[in-house]
Amino acid sequence: MSTALVILAAGKGTRMRSDLPKVLHKVAHAPLLIHAMRSGAELEPERTVIVTGHGAEAVEAVARDHDEAAICVVQAEQLGTGHAVQHARDALAGFTGDVIVLYGDTPFIRPETLAKMAEARASHDVVVLGFEAADPGKYGRLVMQGDALHKIVEFKDATKAQRAITLCNSGVVAASAETLFALLDKVDNDNASGEYYLTDIVGLARTDGLSATAVTCDEAETMGVNSRADLAAAEAAFQRARRAELLDSGVTLTAPETVFLAYDTHIGPDTEIEPNVVFGPGVTIENGAQIRAFSHLEGCHVSRGAIVGPYARLRPGAELSEDVRVGNFVEIKNATLEARAKVNHLSYVGDASVGEATNIGAGTITCNYDGVFKHRTTIGARAFIGSNTMLVAPVTVGDEAMTASGTVVTRDVPEGALAMARANQTNREGLARKMFDMLKSKKARKAKEQS
Ligand code: UD1
Ligand code: MG
Repeated sequence: MSTALVILAAGKGTRMRSDLPKVLHKVAHAPLLIHAMRSGAELEPERTVIVTGHGAEAVEAVARDHDEAAICVVQAEQLGTGHAVQHARDALAGFTGDVIVLYGDTPFIRPETLAKMAEARASHDVVVLGFEAADPGKYGRLVMQGDALHKIVEFKDATKAQRAITLCNSGVVAASAETLFALLDKVDNDNASGEYYLTDIVGLARTDGLSATAVTCDEAETMGVNSRADLAAAEAAFQRARRAELLDSGVTLTAPETVFLAYDTHIGPDTEIEPNVVFGPGVTIENGAQIRAFSHLEGCHVSRGAIVGPYARLRPGAELSEDVRVGNFVEIKNATLEARAKVNHLSYVGDASVGEATNIGAGTITCNYDGVFKHRTTIGARAFIGSNTMLVAPVTVGDEAMTASGTVVTRDVPEGALAMARANQTNREGLARKMFDMLKSKKARKAKEQS
């Protein structure tokens, strides 16, 4: 059965108190909307329709950046969830499979849960995702009759007895496109909110002799974001869950609660992550690497056996091969370090390639930026870059070459050569002692004047 996703993302999110549309606020570095899209994408949908409204252009740009094929439709006036889904009708013209409706502000619905709903669709016309709520609050209530879902009542419209029901509506619904739109045509706004409720399709289905049921999931999956406090709670929930998954998969986290992961962080088994490590988006760490305390990584790849940190910063395009060492106060950006290369102390290596087993001494800087353009530094294999070398790019240092410490390299260094570019040293016998005496007597004179 082919599937289409309809993701509702038109709401303003007033309680966020933000100029940014709610669904673009981020959890683990990805907009809420992208979490919903990624989860739905596991069903390999034939079409993905996003219903936008507030901040439509910005939402569309983010959605299409993530999935070029996503179709965005604008719901100019938000007259309810049923009204919102109606807006997807044209985008789904000719589509005959199943439609799954998701919310753009509900990031944690698991793909497995959606798969369970798709399965339940085999024997029911309408499938709703429900959950047992610890505090049912204002959620819509699922009125069951045995295994059948009889109807959904919104809190505002519910009787006292219905409000006592704890099985609540998550908002996720599945039905065939044909059934969904036929039922939506019958939905009116004759209710306490004056809105077109998507939830009304259940009662209407039953009246038409169609079957409906509820699949349930853990309440944590249905967590929605309406405020900054919710956003922080969602972030915490994401981090907790992802840390637990990594521990289960064989990654050592010395102090899991201090490690912050991005939505797409990949870490292989037998890697050790020390306390206070932060992952931005786009990081892959292979098996058996070590990321030491207080390091910050984003957009980079770390191979087996590499040791990074403590206090290292890997920026986008940092590519570390096997057994590379990147030590404290070192920043690597858009640079490839071949196997066993070492940059252990206080260095900046940007827009560069560093050959196998090359050692970069403390305080080395690739001067990659001339104020307008960026330039590359290429260093060969088994080279030795002396401490405090400035590599003024574009520049190439050959295999097995050396630079003397303090050298400012402005011309290419041939293979096997030693580059030395610094002022010659002179020693003036006794001059230091003379200077000290002079300065100390000056200090004594000043002290006397002030007393
Ligand atoms: C909805 C459900 C309720 C359920 C709850 C779960 C209905 C009528 N009620 O209520 O049963 O328990 O979600 O959180 O469906 N949206 C649009 N356009 C609109 C209206 C809403 O895109 O015209 C989007 C919102 O941006 C949001 C989602 O749909 O992402 C849900 O809308 P919301 O107003 O939060 O619905 P609830 O009243 O919470
Ligand atoms: Mg809501």
